[in-house]
Amino acid sequence: MSHILILGGDGYLGWPTAMYFSSRGYQVTVVDNYFRRNSCVELDVGMLYPVPSLQERAKIWSEQTGREIKVVIADLTDPESMRSLFDGRTGYSFALDHSFTGIPDTVMHYAEQPSAPYSLINYKYANITLANNLLVTNNLLFALRDFSRETHIIHIGTMGEYGTPNIDIEEGWLDIEHKGRTDRFLFPRQASSLYHTTKIMDTDLMWFGVRMWDLKVTDLMQGPVYGIETEESVVDDRLKTIFNYDEIFGTIVNRFITQAVVGYPLTVYGQGGQTRGYLNIKDTLQCVHRSEITPAKPGELRIFNQIMETFSANELAEKTRRVGNRLGYDVRIDHLENPRKEAEEHYYNPTYQGLIDIGVEPHFLTDEVMEEMFRVVQQYQSNIRKDVIFKGITW
Ligand SMILES: NC(=O)c1ccc[n+]([C@@H]2O[C@H](COP(=O)([O-])OP(=O)(O)OC[C@H]3O[C@@H](n4cnc5c(N)ncnc54)[C@H](O)[C@@H]3O)[C@@H](O)[C@H]2O)c1
Repeated sequence: MSHILILGGDGYLGWPTAMYFSSRGYQVTVVDNYFRRNSCVELDVGMLYPVPSLQERAKIWSEQTGREIKVVIADLTDPESMRSLFDGRTGYSFALDHSFTGIPDTVMHYAEQPSAPYSLINYKYANITLANNLLVTNNLLFALRDFSRETHIIHIGTMGEYGTPNIDIEEGWLDIEHKGRTDRFLFPRQASSLYHTTKIMDTDLMWFGVRMWDLKVTDLMQGPVYGIETEESVVDDRLKTIFNYDEIFGTIVNRFITQAVVGYPLTVYGQGGQTRGYLNIKDTLQCVHRSEITPAKPGELRIFNQIMETFSANELAEKTRRVGNRLGYDVRIDHLENPRKEAEEHYYNPTYQGLIDIGVEPHFLTDEVMEEMFRVVQQYQSNIRKDVIFKGITW
């Protein structure tokens, strides 16, 4: 069975991905340096519930399922740590038993600082974001160039790379006709934060690696993800993924539901017409799985827009209010002065067909899905800290 290496395997998406592939019989190795957890402590943003260490989670998983997830704690900005994962020499070899073999067939690259507000707290956090994200990506490309060009990279990019252009958004590429000649280019990108800028630069670095060294890359332009439970986490409460509800690391649906549960008015920024594409955490897993089954070819940078539906911030707030009211919460909506510099009303029409074409079956944000999230959040209501919900990081 294929060997999957997950960089950033302790994260919101990384851990559920590890369980998903492990439960399907893949050999799974996760690598992380607890950047995310340490940042939460440093910035004093609360998580909804405590989460065991990565090693403890792997142990619980093994007790519950009889399957093994290998854990490596390493900082991937260190090139030697990254290279040791591919050269068959060190790195996870210390963690390997003899059932794990060889170099990974697929590497899932999630190991980045993932927050736009974090990247704009001040120059220090901007530098951390730039250095961390670009070094990890560059280290990965050189490790593959030198040791393992056959390994398929699946990278999680972001729809935020495109910004909100006044034309339809294609899946990564645009055919341009100019003075009678045509060529195909990366779709114009215009990030609205320094975090998103690093994702644009990731795409450019990977495009370079594809052109120069024939690497195989799938870049998934993901929208904000919502959700808590996945099929695999329900076997044991301690296997739930990390869940943030604060302004820095919490994504909008997760935040709104938590705010509704604790009676904190939903924080809509400005007029609330900001429209984005969203997906359920279960669909992130499906998307990477379908991409793994049908990999990019050598010398191909394949780009999919990884969203399942679009909503404006107002629509999400209204939906949260409707579902919350039905469950007995008194949900209010507050239009705050927008701390970000962004269009509050704009055209937004992205294409998102490629992943459906390779077999993804979307889950949608129905009232029932929201209700289920409300119920999980409610169980941890006493842990919710109102003081971390909104701190007002400005652009
Ligand atoms: N969650 C979303 O809604 C969303 C949306 C679009 C894109 N993405 C992208 O998906 C990926 C995963 O996002 P997430 O929400 O799981 O974020 P996350 O912060 O929970 O996960 C990233 C993980 O990578 C680890 N990491 C970071 N730098 C590292 C380093 N130098 N060495 C080793 N490990 C390191 C972190 O500790 C963390 O566990 C990120 O690249 C993010 O930009 C996420």
